[in-house]
Amino acid sequence: MQTAITPRNGSRSASSRTIELSWDAAPNHAYPDPGVIGIVYFAELEVVAGDAAARQFEMAINGKLWSKAPFTPQHLVCDAFFNSEAHRGFGGDYNITLNATANSTLLPTINAAEFFSVVSMTNVATDSKDVAAMAVIKAKYEVKKNWAGDPCAPKTLVWEGLNCSYAISMPPRITRLNMSFGGLSGGIPSHFSNLKAIKYLDLSYNNFTGPIPKALSDLPFLVVLDLTGNQLNGSIPSGLMKRIQDGSLTLRYGKNPNLCSNGGSCEPTKKNSKSMLAVYIAAPILAVVVIGALAVLLLLIMTKKQGSIKGSVKPQNEASGVHSQSRNGDTHSLLQVDNRRFTYKDLQVMTNNFKTVLGRGGFGSVYDGFLPDGTQVAVKLRSESSRQGVREFLTEAQTLTKIHHKNLVSMVGYCKDGEYMALVYEHMSEGNLEDKLRGKDSNSTSLTWRQRLRIAMESAQGLEYLHVACSPAFVHRDVKTSNILLNVNLKAKVADFGLLKAFNHDGDTHVSTTRLVGTHGYLAPEYAAALQLTEKSGVYNFGVVLLEVITGRPPILQCPKPTNIIQWVRQHLAQGNIEDVADVRIRGDYGINSVWKVTGVALKCTAQAPTQRPTMTEVVAQLQECLKLEEHHMI
Ligand SMILES: *[C@@H]1O[C@H](CO)[C@@H](O)[C@H](O)[C@H]1NC(C)=O
Ligand SMILES: *[C@@H]1O[C@H](CO)[C@@H](O)[C@H](O)[C@H]1NC(C)=O
Ligand SMILES: *[C@@H]1O[C@H](CO)[C@@H](O)[C@H](O)[C@H]1NC(C)=O
Ligand SMILES: *[C@@H]1O[C@H](CO)[C@@H](O)[C@H](O)[C@H]1NC(C)=O
Ligand SMILES: *[C@@H]1O[C@H](CO)[C@@H](O)[C@H](O)[C@H]1NC(C)=O
Repeated sequence: MQTAITPRNGSRSASSRTIELSWDAAPNHAYPDPGVIGIVYFAELEVVAGDAAARQFEMAINGKLWSKAPFTPQHLVCDAFFNSEAHRGFGGDYNITLNATANSTLLPTINAAEFFSVVSMTNVATDSKDVAAMAVIKAKYEVKKNWAGDPCAPKTLVWEGLNCSYAISMPPRITRLNMSFGGLSGGIPSHFSNLKAIKYLDLSYNNFTGPIPKALSDLPFLVVLDLTGNQLNGSIPSGLMKRIQDGSLTLRYGKNPNLCSNGGSCEPTKKNSKSMLAVYIAAPILAVVVIGALAVLLLLIMTKKQGSIKGSVKPQNEASGVHSQSRNGDTHSLLQVDNRRFTYKDLQVMTNNFKTVLGRGGFGSVYDGFLPDGTQVAVKLRSESSRQGVREFLTEAQTLTKIHHKNLVSMVGYCKDGEYMALVYEHMSEGNLEDKLRGKDSNSTSLTWRQRLRIAMESAQGLEYLHVACSPAFVHRDVKTSNILLNVNLKAKVADFGLLKAFNHDGDTHVSTTRLVGTHGYLAPEYAAALQLTEKSGVYNFGVVLLEVITGRPPILQCPKPTNIIQWVRQHLAQGNIEDVADVRIRGDYGINSVWKVTGVALKCTAQAPTQRPTMTEVVAQLQECLKLEEHHMI
């Protein structure tokens, strides 16, 4: 609304006193005329001296008067004009004109316009698996095309480079994909093989490297695969070779200097002798490995027996020096020594026979406890009905022995005693962030904006450590406000590493997981749709946390209808008012600039495309700036 257009100030002929906008509601006459609803927006941007009606114009739609009276925009007042009933009857071609009235000394202006037509979707949306595959491909390559909305529907707005098949009472399927000359690089992602109805796949003249994915041979209807002009290497997968030989597939692979084709540098005989050699080498190695594994197994069984006898007497691996730790709750020094292993009996003593429950989760219950030296701890005991399996338990225990950061909850010890499994953590007396924001006594002890900001920044630092400092990097996968714990000084630490996932940075930039984990309302779209996991999925989770911190609202809002918090915030911000978005309990207590800035960061974190989200390092830097802004505000 801060800009407007007006006709060029030329000769004062009639046509130069007119703005004309045209809209084709039924391109190529693909639909019967659907009619049009227009919304036009005005605000006077100039100071109009003298006569208030110096700028005055009439609006017409295809020559028929649209506005009943001449219109004059008000200075810096946003005004809109629209028709509530669709205009029809012009074969879909509409011209909207704004004509200066005879009295008007100034030319018409217009700031914005929207035109809507209702197009009947006789076909339902594209097959969901095709949509998911295209979403990943689009996100991975930031394809700069008209790729928006549904790939195949409506027919007139099919994505560039795609062809679809439309059958009655079946969702449209993608049958051709042309990404030729797309400037794409990296390995050919296996996602192309999820386009199960595709017949023609053209990836020619890109910069794809690495091997031809085997999965491409699983495309049952593929007739032409064009890989010409890339940097592919390796040999052609046998599945594709077979399809070429039986004549069902045409493969073009010229201009790939490092690709071994059958007649090329990789002789089939050589390959055979190579693989025979592999068998000669592999067989003895296999035998050694099997014998070795048996020996290890035997050893394990023996030590396990010993372990359980010793374990019932006293904690194993008890490090010397633990008892000399101070009683001021500083468990950090405990971490310098190896984590301690406790027996079930130790836990009973520690927790006074599991007397005080601090909380319950998917894993089981968390109990209050004390170490012999008086240090307060939290004991997370796995219940038999736990949804969290033995594997998650072990993941968490192993990971926690490796990662140490002031903003990650640290592990004091663990217990694996028969069927009993438990993790012993430092005690976080102020509970979790979710309860602080939305719990039953969150009203009386509401966090201030500054406290919230500091908690957000500290949690971000913990996550940044997982993403950046750890090798391999970790993604938490279940970042949410109930997993951010607060100690007595309200210092924030991220907890619950049972779903942590490691991945290497070399090679591909994401891991494909086989199982969706995490919490509804926090899941990044690419992860929920295609199980694509990167650090950016973690950034998305954190963005949702930030929005909760700002608004004090849950990730899924129920009123007036179920909406996620991201949409809710976007909708409210569209109306331009940050005050509506911020939690009522911090109103009057914050600098408007820092709230705007944090909201901006949160919305970037929750961008649909992973590539548009910032890294955790950038988030930390931004939040630090916000804290500075807020400190200036306080002064
Ligand atoms: C527009 O044209 C009129 C008449 O030719 C002239 O008086 C006026 O200065 C022009 N305005 C601008 C912004 O050029
Ligand atoms: C609308 O304007 C375009 C271009 O000026 C013209 O070709 C078309 O015939 C007009 N349509 C109607 C319905 O006036
Ligand atoms: C595929 O796309 C490229 C680049 O946009 C274009 O030059 C080529 O003609 C297209 N191929 C087909 C078969 O449409
Ligand atoms: C492929 O990469 C090389 C350098 O790595 C570059 O010079 C070339 O322009 C790229 N080609 C395309 C089609 O992007
Ligand atoms: C193929 O290229 C990739 C990098 O582009 C490289 O890592 C790999 O070793 C190459 N493989 C072969 C068989 O040359």
